Amino acid sequence: MAPAALLPLLALLAPALGGASPACDHRPAQLWCRSPEVAAAAACQAPSGCAHPTAAPVELSLFYESLCPACRRFLVEQLFTAWLLLPAEALNITLVPYGNAQERNDSGKWQFQCQHGPEECLGNMIETCLMHEAKNFSTYFPVIFCLESGSSVTKTLGACLQVYAPQLDGDRIAACVRGDTGAALMHRNAQLTEALDPPHQYVPWVVVNGKHTDELQAQAETSLLGLICRLYQGEKPEACGSSGIPEAPPRCRR
Ligand SMILES: *[C@@H]1O[C@H](CO)[C@@H](O)[C@H](O)[C@H]1NC(C)=O
Ligand SMILES: *[C@@H]1O[C@H](CO)[C@@H](O)[C@H](O)[C@H]1NC(C)=O
Ligand SMILES: *[C@@H]1O[C@H](CO)[C@@H](O)[C@H](O)[C@H]1NC(C)=O
Repeated sequence: MAPAALLPLLALLAPALGGASPACDHRPAQLWCRSPEVAAAAACQAPSGCAHPTAAPVELSLFYESLCPACRRFLVEQLFTAWLLLPAEALNITLVPYGNAQERNDSGKWQFQCQHGPEECLGNMIETCLMHEAKNFSTYFPVIFCLESGSSVTKTLGACLQVYAPQLDGDRIAACVRGDTGAALMHRNAQLTEALDPPHQYVPWVVVNGKHTDELQAQAETSLLGLICRLYQGEKPEACGSSGIPEAPPRCRR
């Protein structure tokens, strides 16, 4: 999918997100407490009992590798969509690009070997350095979505930045990718992945609220939006009404 092709999608979904300046007139009163922005907006005349937030977000960690087809599909079709549709109070996402890679200490320097070859290692590194430079999830996730949904994960950073995060400096990301910072960050990803309990058997590997079970994994792959909607203890977000059930490609065994 070309990055530009996503703009209409984003525009289409924008009303569901609430937009930057919340308009209250079209929202039912029970939704006033749904986001701090809406609750705070004077025009909303939100009731004083609009306490917020009331529930912790569902914590989702995705352990993946940049070129695994099932990872790309999960990230693009399930995770990005769920993130777009749900308010930040409901879903907190951590991305760990490493997956079935291996590392070794080559006279003091970490060297990485990836399941789908050097290009996958580069893709993992680009995404890791992008996250490090951008810091803000809302800034880097659309860029990662753009990379993973396009024809090449490793050759489209410039184009994706231009569309989704023009304020980021591509040269700084490139320097991180080539340098010690990238290697140190990737080593951290390796440690996080190796620390998984139970250990991952394939990727994408989903951990929800600190837990991985076959059932959670299957539900996440079938309808992540539905799973988060079920698990979130706060007021049901608007998007928690319907969710499609796409067929999943096979996982990439380590
Ligand atoms: C999301 O999770 C991260 C990592 O666990 C944490 O640092 C952050 O505070 C969480 N954000 C929210 C809004 O809970
Ligand atoms: C990596 O190897 C170097 C030298 O070969 C050694 O000094 C260093 O302690 C090793 N680091 C780790 C984390 O094993
Ligand atoms: C992250 O970026 C979003 C969108 O630009 C912004 O609304 C939010 O305040 C930022 N968060 C932080 C912690 O800077």
